[in-house]
Amino acid sequence: MSTYQYKNISRVTTHVLQEMKERGEKISMLTAYDYSMAKILDEAKIDVLLVGDSASNVMAGHMTTLPITLDQMIYHAASVMRAVYRALVVVDLPFGSYQGNSKEALNSAIRIMKESGAHAIKLEGGTEILESVKRILSAGVPVMGHLGLTPQSIYKFGTFEVRAKEEAEAQKLIEDAHALAEAGCFAIVLEKIPAALAARVAEEVKIPIIGIGAGSGVDGQVLVLHDLLGITKEFSPRFLRRYMNLYDDMLDAVSRYIEDVKLKDFPNEKEQY
Ligand code: KIV
Repeated sequence: MSTYQYKNISRVTTHVLQEMKERGEKISMLTAYDYSMAKILDEAKIDVLLVGDSASNVMAGHMTTLPITLDQMIYHAASVMRAVYRALVVVDLPFGSYQGNSKEALNSAIRIMKESGAHAIKLEGGTEILESVKRILSAGVPVMGHLGLTPQSIYKFGTFEVRAKEEAEAQKLIEDAHALAEAGCFAIVLEKIPAALAARVAEEVKIPIIGIGAGSGVDGQVLVLHDLLGITKEFSPRFLRRYMNLYDDMLDAVSRYIEDVKLKDFPNEKEQY
């Protein structure tokens, strides 16, 4: 395995991900937006951490990913980077920071790399953004693609339903995936598309394909951390597996603390000086 060491830990690089695909080892990826969570995920040996623009939803409480700014993404990414020794850290280019032209896209990517120390960027779209992808890659910045249900286009789609069920959209997605891979992207996220289509893309395209709601025939899986932990109770798509009900557990813990304070039970003799 081609690795490089940092504090005696072998880091996950884009090359390591490619080798994982080639030997059939699945890639694990989760979102992270802050130091404390990123530290736990890195210690658990997650392969890839995504500082996703889903921070706009789960951290800032917006309805969509559109409002989050480049400065805010850099703040989240820099916090994550302070915690990480092993994982590859990928940062979303937020809506409005790359769609204008390829120079704007490159400048946004460079700001993320310089100001956060992250390892790669992700952006949504296929052939429409290919010029930007190539320009960012030519500056030496690794790029991850994102196709299917691309949340920055939610007002164009008008719904969070499964994408590419129709032949024309499926065909365009396949062409986009090939174009991104040929341009030099190191991986592609496929979001909420039919499992058979995702498996076909993973078979045809030589770079790692990471799915979210895209079935098991891809090279890896990504979830939003807050969904996996059960913090976002209201969000229950079929593809989500919850490993905890942290919302309820936290509600219980905080309620018990409030009760202890009110009952003058906290702090007790041993909890004071
Ligand atoms: O922002 C995000 O969390 C993402 C994942 C859903 C892939 O892009």
